[in-house]
Amino acid sequence: MKKRTHTCGQLTKADLNQTVTLQGWVASHRDLGGLLFIDLRDRYGKTQVVVHPEETPDLAGIAHTLHSEWVVEITGIVQARPEGMINKDMMTGEIEIKVSHLDILNTCPPLPFQIEDSSKANEELKLKYRYLDLRRPEMQEVLMLRHHISNIVREHFSAEDFIEVETPFLVKSTPEGARDYLVPSRIFEGSFYALPQSPQIYKQLLMVAGFDKYFQIARCFRDEDLRSDRQPEFTQIDVEMSFVDQNEIFDVIERLFVKILKEAWNQDLRTPFPRITYNECIEKYGSDKPDLRYGLEFHNLTEHFKGCEFHVIATALQEGGVVIGLNLKGKANLSRKQVTELEELAKKAGLAGILPLKLTAEGFKGVLAGKVDDQTLKAVAEQCQASEGDLLLMGIGKKSSILKGLGVLRVKLAEHFSLFDPIDRSKTSIFWVVDFPLFERDETTGEVSPSHHPFTGFHPDDEPMLTTEPWNVRSTAYDLVMNGNELLSGSIRIHDSKQQAMIFDLLGISEEEIKLRFGFLVDALKYGAPPMGGMAIGFDRVIMVLTNRPIRDVIAFPKTTLAQSLMDGCPSPIDPQLLTDLHLALIPPKNS
Ligand code: AMO
Repeated sequence: MKKRTHTCGQLTKADLNQTVTLQGWVASHRDLGGLLFIDLRDRYGKTQVVVHPEETPDLAGIAHTLHSEWVVEITGIVQARPEGMINKDMMTGEIEIKVSHLDILNTCPPLPFQIEDSSKANEELKLKYRYLDLRRPEMQEVLMLRHHISNIVREHFSAEDFIEVETPFLVKSTPEGARDYLVPSRIFEGSFYALPQSPQIYKQLLMVAGFDKYFQIARCFRDEDLRSDRQPEFTQIDVEMSFVDQNEIFDVIERLFVKILKEAWNQDLRTPFPRITYNECIEKYGSDKPDLRYGLEFHNLTEHFKGCEFHVIATALQEGGVVIGLNLKGKANLSRKQVTELEELAKKAGLAGILPLKLTAEGFKGVLAGKVDDQTLKAVAEQCQASEGDLLLMGIGKKSSILKGLGVLRVKLAEHFSLFDPIDRSKTSIFWVVDFPLFERDETTGEVSPSHHPFTGFHPDDEPMLTTEPWNVRSTAYDLVMNGNELLSGSIRIHDSKQQAMIFDLLGISEEEIKLRFGFLVDALKYGAPPMGGMAIGFDRVIMVLTNRPIRDVIAFPKTTLAQSLMDGCPSPIDPQLLTDLHLALIPPKNS
């Protein structure tokens, strides 16, 4: 094997008449009017290679045996492509290599799917042969972007005096709300390590140790139900700082996102990013990560319907319910069938139904027209800033369920009517969500659990409510949301061990459990813990949003929604001897 002189994405007209050697994969080959053309591909691009059978019959013999994805080496002279064969879209589109030497470095059997046309291939097959799918130029671009962004991240934080510290993988359970992946100890029978759900506790300990600016590109592991934006193992850009307030934390992160968006999209983000409270997000959009690239804001219309006799509304209001509407601009002309489709969408979004009200030239149309006086409907239309040609959709019932259902419906409507252009980067919506509640309350059991994690601080003004109505206490937690995706989550932490103990107590965690699970953190907080705060950016999510692809596409070797790797077949049974060594026995499945 010779040494390659260039990559397959490098040669241009500036290299004419040079003798070069390239190595790569056969992307395609064709016999055109006696000349044999081969497209040679590597991760840098493609180069057209041409064999002249009359001049080099031996090479033509070899070239005829080539198949897609064989690995070859060629040497030849760079020449200009004839007029009509120039491809301005390719870096190497003006040249080709006239081959004087051709060597086959490796062959392969027919492929399970065609690399160049894999959009038609079955997803499972692509995951099984992930290394082949990763040969696709667009997949390689994603991983190269990922690498590039991780460099920006490291440069950014290093330049701002942060240091990267690695925290352990074999840890005591960390409370991020998911199930832990466990690792049995061979030495301590019946004892387990957990894989970290995040480096949360360790980064707080680093603050206690005096590393006032920490970051880490860290792997996290969570055994939870997977969705299109979740993987069981994923990467966080984890950050923590001492002696800072929320504004300083936001500044560092905003400066990072300005750089990322400039590099990746050539977009200038304006700072400071807007801040919206959690309550406002929920009331206006029914979600704590609303996509603001399209309107569809909610309007609470309940007041207008007080005393209304229309039974659906009257019953709901008697039970303390609400009427919340949104305005689908210009959609009053939808047919009955199309409106029925919207009602189906509403049901899929978890709503019992949706009341449509059209504003037409002939007046209001819909179930409410005639049943509710025009004066009321006019006031409703005015609040929704609706005019002739618009369609109002109203949800009626318990406030929390209506907001949640409408929140899901809002996203479905935007997709259904293509209310935004997913690749128009100039419309990017990025903002902070602040003032999250400290606790979530289970509506049936009344139990409270941390909205973020139990180390999150609370709003000082709300302290008196901690014991009386804890579910109304605001926390110091925040998220950053971009185009409808939660990119990061963080908070100012509790740094006082007594306050931390009080929060554990409110969460109903017994002293014994605290000692067992978080004793080392509570202890550390006693030894001069500085005020601290931070966040973790979902690195995979950032790449997802930048490339407008599902999370699976931005991770080199992802898992399926069942947390399996189709490529290596894990999880898989293990050698019984290993189980014995680990002091483990399997419980036979129930129905065997
Ligand atoms: P949180 O659990 O909100 O906070 O996670 C932070 C960010 O990580 C990303 N993320 C995920 N990405 C892919 N797959 C998953 N399963 C997954 N889970 C979370 C999201 C999320 O915003 N320790 C705290 C942070 C802190 O307080 O500093 C934490 O982990 O983008």
